[in-house]
Amino acid sequence: PQIRKFFVGGNWKMNGDKKSLGELIQTLNTAKLDANVEVVCGSPAIYLDFVRSKMDAKLGVAAQNCYKVAKGAFTGEISPAMIKDVGVNWVILGHSERRHVFGESDELIGQKTAHALENGLCVIACIGEKLDEREAGITEKVVFAQTKVIADNVKDWSKVVLAYEPVWAIGTGKTASPAQAQEVHDKLRAWVKTNVSEAVANSVRIIYGGSVTGSTCKELASQKDVDGFLVGGASLKAEFVEIINANV
Ligand code: G3P
Repeated sequence: PQIRKFFVGGNWKMNGDKKSLGELIQTLNTAKLDANVEVVCGSPAIYLDFVRSKMDAKLGVAAQNCYKVAKGAFTGEISPAMIKDVGVNWVILGHSERRHVFGESDELIGQKTAHALENGLCVIACIGEKLDEREAGITEKVVFAQTKVIADNVKDWSKVVLAYEPVWAIGTGKTASPAQAQEVHDKLRAWVKTNVSEAVANSVRIIYGGSVTGSTCKELASQKDVDGFLVGGASLKAEFVEIINANV
């Protein structure tokens, strides 16, 4: 029996327009989706209001980033309060592109996590090692350090999903093997058990991201500690439905 509700997030990144996203939403609204799966789509900030208004209420919407304070002189940023104001309940934080393209530090991601949670958003918190780190054998050290900064800023773990996204697997077509994903997810859950609590370790969803497709999702989903996915490229296609339905 499934102890944790399977969670499939889509991360549209900086893609789509009203026309194409409207069509995608139509596809999702009318598709036959596994009712045992929580689905959340990460929209570009400018379309959050539009997407929330079009998307069926049973499907969640996420922002892809937010800032660490409520309002003020922070040109170009959006706050959790604004995200909530347009009816959106989730935010993706710490994505590898935020870390490595935009230079976000662990510390900033921790502050954003605390502020988003305090303001009533649920958080998809992303972690993951780069290729050189994996090759140097420090995957665990890297993901534990990233997880610690997030964990230090979480009080209510029911509002958090941990997304393990090895950087070398993102957008590369090189999906982690089911065994590779399971190994890291298992270690992350053990870390949570030791450093947070056994109850949280048993209940927190640890999802995998990195080149997930309709053809790789089933075997990944069958791994004991893989509780869902965060999907980039394939979340923009009808294939996303197959990924949501990975367990049926
Ligand atoms: O957040 C999802 C992501 O980074 C994975 O992207 O395109 O490899 O599925 P993709």
